[in-house]
Order: sequence, then C-alpha cells, then structure tokens
Amino acid sequence: MSDATRPMPAQQALTIARAFLPQRPWGNRYDYYYTRAKLRTDPLYPGVLAVLRDTPGPVLDLGCGLGLLAHALHADGQSRAYYGVDIDAGKIQRARQIARRTGLAEARFEVLDLTVRWPEHAGNVAILDMLQYLPETVQAGLLAHTARMLAPGAKLVIRSALGDDSGRGRTTRVTDLIAHLAGWMQEVPKSYPTRETLQRHLSAAGLTATFSPLYGNTPFNNWLIVAERAQKHARQAPGGRHAPGA
Ligand SMILES: C[S@@+](CC[C@H](N)C(=O)[O-])C[C@H]1O[C@@H](n2cnc3c(N)ncnc32)[C@H](O)[C@@H]1O
Repeated sequence: MSDATRPMPAQQALTIARAFLPQRPWGNRYDYYYTRAKLRTDPLYPGVLAVLRDTPGPVLDLGCGLGLLAHALHADGQSRAYYGVDIDAGKIQRARQIARRTGLAEARFEVLDLTVRWPEHAGNVAILDMLQYLPETVQAGLLAHTARMLAPGAKLVIRSALGDDSGRGRTTRVTDLIAHLAGWMQEVPKSYPTRETLQRHLSAAGLTATFSPLYGNTPFNNWLIVAERAQKHARQAPGGRHAPGA
C-alpha cells in the first residue's frame, strides 16, 4: 500500500482530533472520538491530500461535515482557501467554532442543502462520502455544475461508496443505515452511484475520470474518483507540428 492508501500517521491524526475536544473537561467528546477513529482507520484524507497537492487554488468541500478536510489540508502544509457546505446546521456550527479556535483563518462554512441550491466557486472541488445522500438526478446535475466550477488545471476529487452487489457494497449500505438510525447521520442514503452511472455523468459534464479503490483495511466499498476537464486533442500535422487552428 502506498502512503496515499493508508490512514494518516498516528501523531498527525491525534493532533487534528485534539482540536475537536470540548473546551471544558466535562463537555461532549463524541466529535473527538469520531474524528480520531476516522483518521486512524480510514485512508480517505491521505488519498485526497495526495490528489490536491499538485493543484493549487481554493477547495470547495460539498457535504463537508465537521470540516475535517480543512484541518487535514492545513496539517499537510496546503494552506489555501477552503469553503465547506453541509445540510447539517449543528455540524456547520461546530466546524466554524473549531476552525476559528484552531486558527484556520482561510476556512469558511455555510449551511446548504445540495438538493435545493448549489454554491458558486472557482477552483478544486471535493465530494467526500456524500453523493449517496442525493437522488441520482441531483447527483447528475451537481456533477455538471461542479465541472463548470473547476478552474483550469483544477481537480474534482470524489470519494464514494459504489453501489454493487459485493460484500463491501452490502456492508456499506447496512452501516449507512445504522448511522442514520443511531442518529449519527441525519440524512438517509438515497442512491448509491455505480461506476457506470458516475462515469456517464462525469463524461456528460466534459470530464475524464480515474477510479481506484480507497478502502484500505475498512470493510466498505469506497472508491477514489479523480476527474478533470477532458483535454481537447490537438490535431497533429505531419511531422508532429500542431495543425493550424487546433
Ligand atoms: C458521511 S458524511 C461525510 C462528511 C465529510 N465529507 C467527511 O468525509 O468527513 C456525509 C455528509 O453529507 C451531508 N449531507 C447529506 N445530505 C446533504 C445535502 N442534501 N446537502 C448537503 N449536505 C448533505 C451530511 O450532513 C454529512 O455531513
């Protein structure tokens, strides 16, 4: 496994998670334990950080939750403007407080339901573990809108569970349902994208994409999808020179 498919090193994960400790010793430690466990077991952030490292510019995080990506970018030395949106007002409030406390001056957050409105942005876009919470028609429209927000050279980085009949697919669906029933996730999954539907929506949006597994040692069916604007192929004149007007 490369570093990009392993969870974050323990010390870095702990440093980030500590920002999520309550300010008073008797406060609620749920976010701290959740963050610590996620960072220590899931290769999500190393995978995403490796993709974004070579693409400068701001990052829009659709369905940002507690804004962990902003902390991971900062810890990785990628200081850039970050804009996170999520439907869950409680998470956004905590994300704002913690980013302010931690000195992430370049991070801003907004409560936004992506089935109702899409944000404006120009730069890179991240959609991490949230596509399945949108109906398929909304996924298609959001991906087309996202393609228009990609600045030249910028990337769309998606991590998503893919819908299929594998054991991993089933484990993902059951776990998402438990997370909802237990109150960890307000929303219920609407539609798990398949590799084929995602591929179709991305290419209809004018993007080329690569798919690679990003589940590490977890039992889930999580894939990393990196998309960018399709290059317009320059017509080659004989002798290897570019044809006029190409
Ligand atoms: C599994 S969490 C992932 C959070 C974050 N991206 C991460 O990787 O840590 C899925 C997130 O999607 C958000 N979400 C679900 N439906 C949404 C919607 N319609 N609009 C915006 N956010 C939504 C949830 O509130 C939740 O924070």
